[in-house]
Amino acid sequence: MKTIYFITSNSGKVLEVKNKLTNLDINVVQKNLGYPEIQSNKLEEVAMFGAEYVQKRFKLPFILEDAGLFIDSLGGFPGVFSAYAFHTIGCDGILKLMKNAKGNDRKAVFRSIFAYAEPVKKPVLFIGECFGTISDKMRGSNGFGYDPIFIPDRFNKTFAEMRTSEKNQISHRGKSLEKLIDFFKNI
Ligand code: IMP
Repeated sequence: MKTIYFITSNSGKVLEVKNKLTNLDINVVQKNLGYPEIQSNKLEEVAMFGAEYVQKRFKLPFILEDAGLFIDSLGGFPGVFSAYAFHTIGCDGILKLMKNAKGNDRKAVFRSIFAYAEPVKKPVLFIGECFGTISDKMRGSNGFGYDPIFIPDRFNKTFAEMRTSEKNQISHRGKSLEKLIDFFKNI
């Protein structure tokens, strides 16, 4: 069985990935190493910088994941600052910023990027997106983060009103993880 380290402080994410990769004979082990998040509005650049930073210090195969919510009418905010915005203004603050936004101005996309790296080789990125709209008020109690205010396209409920299994089938992270799994199946 191959071991791959997951560089994260979020054990919920580890569990989600572990379940899927065990089927491929890959053992996922959590490694709580911090890495700097550079000032860039592109999640790809943030993830690549983080992966190359860890790669210089950690000499075993690993994955890491960065995610964010990008709201069209706020110029992509909170985007790469999603964690910071969540801990400061939260869902309530985002709803206040959006109080006059109607129709297309409520469009948003969740993005998730997994990076896989092993010593010497350039890290590989896997991107997943989920398009939707920002709700008028918080709804639902499942999930985490911005789940209560995000309604994925073709649904009338927020991520927080879905069961985790339902969310994972359509979510940004579900999609980037599927691409990572396909990659592992082929190596
Ligand atoms: P991170 O890159 O996983 O730390 O995510 C950054 C921030 O985006 C988190 O603090 C969450 O608030 C938010 N976020 C990421 N993924 C999700 C999700 O699936 N649902 C809701 N919020 C999310």
